[in-house]
Amino acid sequence: MHGEPPAHRERLLAFRPLDPTNRPAPLKTYTGVAATLLPRELRPSSSSAVEVLSGHVAEPGQLDEGLLGTLLFLAAGITRVARTVDGDPIWFRSAMSAGNLHPVEVYVVGDDVHHYQPLDHALVPLRRGVHVCDDVTLVLTGIPFRTCWKYGERGWRHLWWDAGALLANLLAAADAHGVPAQILVGFSDAAVAALVGIDGVDEVPLALVRFGTGELRLPPPEALEPVTARAEPVARRVLRFPLVVDAHTETALDLDAVARWQQAALSVSQPAPAVVEAPPDPYSDDRVEHVILRRGSTRLFRRQRAPSALLEWGLPAACRAVPLDAAPAGTLLEHFVNVHDVAGAEPGGYRYTAVGGFEGCTRSDDPRAAGSRLCLDQPLGGDSAYTVFHAVTLDPLLDTLGGRGYRSAQLEAGIAAGRLALNAVAVGGGATGLTFYDGLVSRYFHTEAAPLLAVAVGIPQTRPARSGAPGHPVELPGYGRLMSRLAAGLHRS
Ligand SMILES: Cc1cc2nc3c(=O)[nH]c(=O)nc-3n(C[C@H](O)[C@H](O)[C@H](O)COP(=O)(O)O)c2cc1C
Repeated sequence: MHGEPPAHRERLLAFRPLDPTNRPAPLKTYTGVAATLLPRELRPSSSSAVEVLSGHVAEPGQLDEGLLGTLLFLAAGITRVARTVDGDPIWFRSAMSAGNLHPVEVYVVGDDVHHYQPLDHALVPLRRGVHVCDDVTLVLTGIPFRTCWKYGERGWRHLWWDAGALLANLLAAADAHGVPAQILVGFSDAAVAALVGIDGVDEVPLALVRFGTGELRLPPPEALEPVTARAEPVARRVLRFPLVVDAHTETALDLDAVARWQQAALSVSQPAPAVVEAPPDPYSDDRVEHVILRRGSTRLFRRQRAPSALLEWGLPAACRAVPLDAAPAGTLLEHFVNVHDVAGAEPGGYRYTAVGGFEGCTRSDDPRAAGSRLCLDQPLGGDSAYTVFHAVTLDPLLDTLGGRGYRSAQLEAGIAAGRLALNAVAVGGGATGLTFYDGLVSRYFHTEAAPLLAVAVGIPQTRPARSGAPGHPVELPGYGRLMSRLAAGLHRS
């Protein structure tokens, strides 16, 4: 946690954050396996983006290869590329990710198992003939070192947030094409790791996404032959952080515990609507794919009054029920909002829940200064029109769902954050995820709830960059020079 003395100090790994000599590879690559290219054309959707982001699901669509490729690209595709001063590529992707490190990998499971390779927009075959489900299930995994390289032990939480942001895009795209999707956090870790051929330590299973309604038949690990395709190591020296390994293994589930765990989830989640009212002004005839491709984290906000829809629609639509096995009633979360400048809303701190709406909980002489302070003194946290902290009350969650409940809440926070970013873009605004001082946030809002993830929402200073099509990311000019200038400025200050 930021701003608190670290727990288990004696078990923290001594390492050099952002060690340039041990930079993790941004993408997982297999050697010697021929990949199959997915269709390059994106399947257009036909409902308006704000309708879909309000929870309206389009007429049922057929999940063929073209639509699968569209969903994968909109969730995990490479949309932009910048170059360092040395000309090395820095990939930007359709969903946000802390530090742009993208530790999440996606596998496609049906009769066969494939790995999604976003650079070529292709599927790499890993297994044939497993018949795990009648339709398609995605497996999301996380590579801890890719994010722990920067964030150390905190990286474990980033796996869930980044997976959640990716899922927000995926759910929006699936809704826009009428494909039912259910997210599962309750599964046997060993069975999923064996299925996709990962070791469960340096790459760990995070979540499953079931498309369609058929039953999922995960074979026990001992029934599977090992995957023979070889992946390149993620870095020259892959560091293992003992607390990260423990956090993951101690929250694992066995096959026979899954049903009991999912049953327990019934009592801990809170109601939330699946659909909210769309804003009166449709804003544009944008589709969800346009919104996703326009999204990019806001780097500078304009300090000006935001239209009320950015908050009054954007937040409730982000906090809608999630199709998540850990939250069958709708949600595990509550949300704290520091409002800075939104038409029709009094500045100050509010608690927002789907059932109770906005309840004032704190006043500040200078809400913008407070917003920035809470977010590790980053100006973005105060220059926004409002900053949200997704939060959870830990005791009932941990008592009922154990550490697996903690995984689930972090994942839902990522989904809410990802939705908030899309909703902001849909009504002409922008957003960015932010880190924050954990204890300070709880004290500011006078709550026992633990903040999980912050998102600043407001009016961006610049227009969004263009995005490319599958296999053809757009080049962002001048990025290397900009980064060098920023770094030189930082070293001077
Ligand atoms: C969980 C999370 C935390 C983030 N924290 C910060 C932050 O503290 N400061 C910041 O400027 N950006 C933050 N970001 C934004 C990322 O830097 C950004 O998503 C990344 O550089 C990729 O760029 P893009 O979102 O434009 O694709 C965060 C993003 C996420 C998902």
